[in-house]
Amino acid sequence: MTIKDEDLINAAKDARENAYCRYSGFSVGAAIVDEQDHLHVGCNVENAAYNLGNCAEAAAIAAMVQDGGKRIVRMAVAGGHDEIASCTPCGGCRQRINEFGNNDTVIIVIDDSNEWREYAIAELLPASFHLDIT
Ligand code: THU
Repeated sequence: MTIKDEDLINAAKDARENAYCRYSGFSVGAAIVDEQDHLHVGCNVENAAYNLGNCAEAAAIAAMVQDGGKRIVRMAVAGGHDEIASCTPCGGCRQRINEFGNNDTVIIVIDDSNEWREYAIAELLPASFHLDIT
């Protein structure tokens, strides 16, 4: 059974509740549906050494890989200070999504009116870097 967008979005919002973001006050949650229709979530985890902080998308991708998921089919991101604001994935996370996504991958970004916009990874990261290995 396919996970509904509404459930994916709620999973991202729920994950956001657990964000550890004491330095920025900007909490982010991300939720992924993989090719096996399994759900994986992550939140941002900051650190007193600022550059060691991790993004929510990176955490959700790590959870997917750990659980045996191979591809991101759909992903939802919810972030903001107090209320949800539009939080498109950062540059580094676009590259991470690119690694596990494909042309059909949909990235749902929830905005301040609780509406959402869907993006393709090629839209967020045009002319992306790929490494061909044999
Ligand atoms: N952050 C994410 O988790 N995902 C993004 O795509 C953008 C930024 C986090 C990193 C940091 O903990 C906080 O949001 C403010 O930049």
